[in-house]
Amino acid sequence: MSEIEPWKNGQAGVVIIDHKKTAVYKDEAGQVHAVSAICTHMGCTIGWNADERTWDCPCHGSRYSIEGKVLRGPAKKDLERVEIDYLKK
Ligand code: FES
Repeated sequence: MSEIEPWKNGQAGVVIIDHKKTAVYKDEAGQVHAVSAICTHMGCTIGWNADERTWDCPCHGSRYSIEGKVLRGPAKKDLERVEIDYLKK
């Protein structure tokens, strides 16, 4: 069992998985998207932007998609995807 399984669809948050901060979003269809929660610019922890459904960095304003793609800099490198084995069916 995991701490994510009881999440509602549409819920997002930063959790520790395998000792790493991980940004997790459970979409409206129940699919879980997980990426590293460490901004690739200078290492701040990103946070969920519920209005835009993006991961935003509070330090210098980088924004990432739920799949970790850079939407706005200064970050240039995408977030690393995280596989959550126990959620695979
Ligand atoms: S550390 Fe995230 S934008 Fe700079």
